[in-house]
Amino acid sequence: MLQTVTTPAEVRAFTAGLSGKRLALVPTMGFLHAGHQALIAEGARRADAVAVSIFVNPTQFGPTEDLARYPKDLDGDLRKCAEAGAVLVYAPQVATVYPPGFQTSVDVERVSKGLDGASRPGHFRGVATVVTKLLALFRPHVALFGEKDYQQLQVIGALARDLELGVEIVGVPTVRDEDGLAMSSRNTYLSPQERAQAPMLSGGLMAAEALVQAGELDVGQIKKIIRHALREGPWKEDFVEVVDAVTLEPLAQLTPGRPARALAAAFLGKTRLIDNVALEP
Ligand code: PAJ
Repeated sequence: MLQTVTTPAEVRAFTAGLSGKRLALVPTMGFLHAGHQALIAEGARRADAVAVSIFVNPTQFGPTEDLARYPKDLDGDLRKCAEAGAVLVYAPQVATVYPPGFQTSVDVERVSKGLDGASRPGHFRGVATVVTKLLALFRPHVALFGEKDYQQLQVIGALARDLELGVEIVGVPTVRDEDGLAMSSRNTYLSPQERAQAPMLSGGLMAAEALVQAGELDVGQIKKIIRHALREGPWKEDFVEVVDAVTLEPLAQLTPGRPARALAAAFLGKTRLIDNVALEP
């Protein structure tokens, strides 16, 4: 049975009742899809109980971003949580998470810079702050995040280590539609025509992955093949970058045996899409 709660006191009553059982936490902003469900299912494999938070976190949205129109479907979300094996959903109000007088933030310094951090000032501070609050409230043994948001996963890994939160941060591979498009709540913004063009982004990244598997080490060539894929449609590039897989520092050349990551962000119409792939030179 899935229990839905809205206050920290109810969460604490739930975790107190677990009496030592292993707990997994899956933080989300709702409008759930098969990618979120993969995190819940992985949590169920790694713990005895899985809790999901559903909270559209205002502090991680910039002033010109889509906070006001971010899609919502709580009934559908509850069904998908139950189906994937969650036992608790925490869906607090904004004033519960950020009451009057709230003034604390968590800033993960180096790994938040560049990439999405450069395009979305303050975004990772908002993410790190709300995730720290959730980890402190639930005190889970394990928390699961998607590789889809690769920089976010590294930011959260760093904060959990640095603050010694005693939680294992697990990254889950990106779940894709059949045509390669990474699943995202924001895909709902795409017009049918844009939806048909959207897989060019994953297509370019997968071409880069294949190029590296074939022995390419020059980052210039790798970026070129990604940008080439975007030229086939009406994309507006935000960034195309190849970085060290752990530090996220930009690379000019790959080193055999050293894991790297190709990340891209681009606008299709008004919708900003992001995706990334592992590069294993
Ligand atoms: P949201 O975009 O709802 O994503 C919640 C979690 O699902 C994140 O860890 C994200 O990486 C993961 N996810 C999204 N799409 C995925 C896909 N196609 N495959 C695998 N995992 C996927 O990310 C956030 O919310 C917020 O920033 C949050 C961490 C909840 C903090 O507010």
